[in-house]
Formats: sequence, structure tokens, C-alpha cells
Amino acid sequence: MTSEIGSERVERLLAELTLEEKLGQLTQYFYFGAIDGGAETADGAPTQPQLVEGALATGGAGALLFVNDPAETNRLQRQAIEGSRHGIPVLFGFDVIHGLRTIFPVPIALAATWDADVIERSQSVAAREARAVGINWVFAPMVDIARDPRWGRMIEGAGEDPLLGGMVAAAQVRGFQGEGIGSAEHVIAGPKHFAGYGAALGGRDYDEANISDQELWNTYFPPFHEAIKAGAGNIMAAYQDLNGVPASGNRWLLHEVLREALGFEGFVVSDANSVRDLETHHFAADLTDAGARALNAGMDMEMAIFDPAFGHLRAAVEDGRVDIARIDESVRRILTAKEALGLFDAPFVDEDAAATVLGDPAHRVAAREAAEASAVLLRNEGVLPLDAAALNRVAVIGPMAASARDTIGPWVFDYDLDETVTIVDGLRTALDGRAEVTYASGVPFDRREFPSMFEMFGDSGPFSPEDFDADAEFAHAVSDAAAADVAVVVLGERQDMIGENASRSSLELPGDQLRLLQAVAETGTPVVLVLMSGRPLDLRWADENVPAILEVWYPGTQGGAAIANLLLGAATPAGRLPFTWPRTVGQVPIHHAVTRSHDPQAQGRRYWDEQSTPLYPFGHGLSYAAFSYGAVAVSAGEVGIDGEVVVSVDVTNTSDRDGAEVVQLYLHQRYGSASRPLRQLAAFERVEVPAGQTRRMQFRIGAEQRRYWSAAIRDWTLDATTFDVWVGGDATASAHAEFTVTA
Ligand code: NOJ
Repeated sequence: MTSEIGSERVERLLAELTLEEKLGQLTQYFYFGAIDGGAETADGAPTQPQLVEGALATGGAGALLFVNDPAETNRLQRQAIEGSRHGIPVLFGFDVIHGLRTIFPVPIALAATWDADVIERSQSVAAREARAVGINWVFAPMVDIARDPRWGRMIEGAGEDPLLGGMVAAAQVRGFQGEGIGSAEHVIAGPKHFAGYGAALGGRDYDEANISDQELWNTYFPPFHEAIKAGAGNIMAAYQDLNGVPASGNRWLLHEVLREALGFEGFVVSDANSVRDLETHHFAADLTDAGARALNAGMDMEMAIFDPAFGHLRAAVEDGRVDIARIDESVRRILTAKEALGLFDAPFVDEDAAATVLGDPAHRVAAREAAEASAVLLRNEGVLPLDAAALNRVAVIGPMAASARDTIGPWVFDYDLDETVTIVDGLRTALDGRAEVTYASGVPFDRREFPSMFEMFGDSGPFSPEDFDADAEFAHAVSDAAAADVAVVVLGERQDMIGENASRSSLELPGDQLRLLQAVAETGTPVVLVLMSGRPLDLRWADENVPAILEVWYPGTQGGAAIANLLLGAATPAGRLPFTWPRTVGQVPIHHAVTRSHDPQAQGRRYWDEQSTPLYPFGHGLSYAAFSYGAVAVSAGEVGIDGEVVVSVDVTNTSDRDGAEVVQLYLHQRYGSASRPLRQLAAFERVEVPAGQTRRMQFRIGAEQRRYWSAAIRDWTLDATTFDVWVGGDATASAHAEFTVTA
């Protein structure tokens, strides 16, 4: 999709549109019709939906968002086409983050599969359902690197690492877009938020990010670059200040980096109201200034609820602050996207067919498989898999075990709770006629101190009733556990404690959950802790006292079925952590690719009160199978600066059970123009290894894997130096080799 010169149709439209019509094309409105239910305003002023429909009637909107009903998308599309003198259709954008009707595991869970096929398949199902209802553009994937789990939006991304993040980003873009924009049953993908949003100060959502140039180029930009290389048609700009300039008005970021360095050719959209926010930032003088500065920085489309700043741009054109050619460039990009999607020729969806697509049983199978692939077995001292034949009674404990709303997680809108399989449902079905499954919540649902921003959608999930008897319910759970062969304790964060605007200052299990876990463990019944979360929690006690811990994230529509399969051994866990798991919140931010300075001996114990090492390293995850690594071989001890070595290693499944291992290669540059991380993930592959068999893994390490942006020379570089290589199952891998690169 190139924007330098449009198709004949696009150029003809450009020549005919008035300035107001052009600015309309550059505006995306929220449409709150389904949310405010058509309520009238007290003073008789137009409601938000009426304002938007007024804009549609005059060709004043280029895109809408938050409409997901096929009859509504058709109705509004008809208004847009009839309202525009040239019959230009609108784009319908939506936050399709991990599924539309069929909900997949949350994005951090998909990343934990380390498996591009699973991720691509998941998002292609999401795209198919979205397109069926008239959505043709998704605000996903979120590719922000996150190293501070206090930031709730880490759940939407792929964690801490740029290489893994890049793979996950590209796979999602391919899933959403198919062969390319215009593929049937696919949509435009919009990687977000450009850039640095994940580095919000203190993990507080929307706070400023201050990121060094070397971190931007080496860590924060690469996932965007991979998404762009995979053909992403859209990029969303971030809300926050990046090094003192708001991302949405930052020309260096949106033009020099995004267009010139990363080669992006699609259209850039603002985050919700982030152009108007340039005034809030104390950056723009007024709305006209905000619109002018965003547009001149490289913003193509403004997402707004009302009164968009771009609607004020006539004044800026007239006084010369904005060049009409710059406006045309953005309009061309938007019209080109609409044309590539085929909207000029086929703007409507088949309302009857939508229900069939949304109900497709194959989508549920894909969701279950993705949930099975994403769970991470953090610890297992011989308890899992459970032996169904030896079980008479299983005690399932914890409020989320029976909560469909929590099973599917945050950032979903069109879900079906009735068809959602909770963990209690999943275990009851799997053990039907074989063992009794009891259920007790044990503790109440913890209410947030401040209401969730999603409560406007009625979306907080269940609350415990007013008359909830905490003591009685606690005792009930403990006695259930005492009478059972195994206790499956499902703990974590309810789904509205994580996501946008849901930062936490603590990583402890909320409420009384730890005390419940301790009381259940004291019964002497073996305990499996099943964790539902989108970030690491403080598991120090559990790691010492609970024999098995399975992180299942928010596993989606089929979550309970997948977890039952995992617990009972019908599926073998193979997920791996896409982030470093801290012991306590005091250690964050923490990640694996750090550099070393003074006194390596002291590095393990630099806190007065806590070790410096994480609880679980990046890449960690156990299996019911077991793997051993042979010696690491390098094809050459010495290569030239552009040369490549092939690193080989044998991975053997030493168990009697088939399983998948994620083989990870870490690189370390011993010296060079700048300090480099002690270990940096440089290659990986998820591989199925049947019981007793060996797989020879080979990884090519060439200039691309060694290149980095050096703060010393302020450019990309390749150093002549010696490299250490480690290959293994996590960031502490010990099988080692080395090679030297000569100038
Ligand atoms: C704000 C969020 O930051 C962004 O990710 C989302 O796509 C928009 N709102 C639209 O819902």
C-alpha cells in the first residue's frame, strides 16, 4: 500500500473533495449508540450518536469505532455513503484484541506459546469474525515492550523481549491481514502504541516515558519494525510524552523514525483523543494548534469522541501553518486503505451469514488449542498431571474458577458467557462419572478501590453478594480441600484489575487469597495452584510450599476445557514465560537482557532484604516431558564481519511422554563499541520432541543477530569481537560455545 500516488479513483476523489470533506476523511469517531441506548441529553442538545450521524450526513467522518453489530455497521455505512457526495464508505475500527465472539487467550498468553502458527491462526479467526460483522480494521496487535508489571497493559503485549515481541507482532499481523490488505475474511491490523507506552513512569498508565535512544532502537522499535515488514496497514500513535515530546505530536517519531527509518507506508491513527490531548500535555496552544502539530508531525487520522482537533484545521490552512499537500497525503492514505479493502465495491456485510461465522465450531477448537499451548507450568513437584483413575474427589477453590467473565479476560465486548467453559465446568465434564468435583469460592471477589473504566460497558464481571459470609465460605473451602484427593486452587487477579488504566502498586495476590492458599495447603491435601493473571504476581510463598503451579492467564471461551486437559494430562504444558518473573514488586523493572558493571560476585544479593535474581527466569516453563541438551557446536570458530555461524545442539526428550520444548539461544558480546547485554535472546524455536527421541536444532547467527544500535557511535554497528552462545530452555541456559568475529 503506497501513498505517494494513489489509484485513478483515489486521485479523482482527492481532486474533487472540499477541504471540509478531506478533514472528514481524516476523522474517526467513537459511536456510542449501543452504549448510551439512545438516551436523550438533559438539555436537548444532540447526543453523541446524533452528533456522529450528523457528521455522516455531510461526509464528515472517515471512520467509526466501537460498532460490532452487523445490522448497525450496514446501517451506518449506508448513511456514510449516502451522506458523502462521492459515496465514500467509512472504515469500521474496533479493539479486537484476542477474539470477537470466540475469545482466545489474552495476548501475553499467546506470546507465551512462542509459536507463530498458533498466534497467526488465533488472530485469523478473530479477523474472520470481525469482518463478518462489518469491522474492517482492528486496533491490534499491541506490540509495546513491557518490563514493569505494575503497568496493567502488559497483558496486551508480548512481554519484555524485542526478538520474541517481533515474532509475535508479525504473526498477529499476518493473522489479521491474511495474504495482504483486501484478503477475504481479513482486516487491516494496527500495531500500537507508537512508541514507548510500555515504559510509563512507575508503571502508571499514560505517564511519561523516558527511554534512551539505544533502548528505543534496540528494544522498543524492533517489534514495530517486524509488524511493518509483515505489511501492517495502520499504526496507532501513543498517548504519552516520549522523552519530553508527546508521541502524537512528535515529528521525529512519526516521520523520521516511522516513515524514513522503518519504512511504514500505511496510515497513522491517533489514540483516542490523543490529538486533542496535545493541549492537555501543555504542548499545543489550542485545538487548532493541536491539529496542526499532530498533522505536521505525521498523524493521518484523529480518533475522537467529539469536536476533533482536525475539524479546526481550516484556520491553520488559511494562515499557512498547514499545507494542503500534507492534508492530501493523509487523505490519499485513508482512501487507498478503503480501496485496498474493497470497500468501494463491497461496502456491506451479509447480516445473515454473520451468525454462522460467529458460531463456527472450528473457532472454538482453535481457541482451546491456543489455551492449551499458552499455559506455563511454573513448578511441578510430582503432582501433575493428575491421574484421573486415582481420583475420587477434586476440590476446586477460588472465585475465578467458576467465573465465565474472568475466564475470558479483559478487552472483549461481544463474548458469550453462556458458552464460556469455566475451570469448574471443564473439570466436571472431563471427570464426569469418574470423580466428584466440588466447588467453593473461599474468598469474595475483590472490588477495586476505584471503578474500572470499562464499567460503562457493564463489564466488571461478578461481584460477591452483599450477604457473602466470608468466614463461612473460607471454612467451606478448607473443609472441601480436606475431604478431597487434590485441591485445585484458582487464584489471581479478577479481569478488571488488569488492562488499560489498571496499574497496581503491589504484585501480591489481592484480598485474602494467600491466606486461603495457606489454609488449604495446611490440610495436607496436595494442592495445584492455577493462576489467572496477565502479569507476574508475588509467588514467593507458593513457590516454596505449593507443589504445582500452572499459569493459565485468562484462557478464553474454551479456557476450562483446555485447563482440564492440561491438569489431567490430555495436553502437555509447553508455554514459556515471555517476561522475567520477579520475586517481589520491589525488584521491578526487571528483565533478562541487562548489562554488567561493577563486582559480578555481589550481583546476586544487592538488596538488603531480597535476592537480586528473579523467581523464574525469562523463557521458563516446565513440561510433563523432560529435555536434555547436548554440547553446543558452532560451525566456525572465526568468521568475518558479515559472516554467519551455524549453532547446532541436540535436544533429547528423556521422558516417556511426548512434549514440546522451546529451544532458546542467547548471545553475549564480550567487548565492543558499547556495553551489550549479558544475555540477549537471539534465536528460538518451539519443537515437538516425541518421547525418547532427539532433535538436532540449528540456528543461523549472522550479521542480523549481531547488529545493534550503539549509543557510542549513534548508529547501527557490527563489532569485531568474541561472542558467547548459550542454548537451553530458559535465560539461564548453561550449554555454551563461543566464536570470534574478525574485522
Ligand atoms: C485507548 C487505548 O489506548 C487504545 O489501545 C484503544 O485502541 C483505543 N482506546 C480505542 O478503544
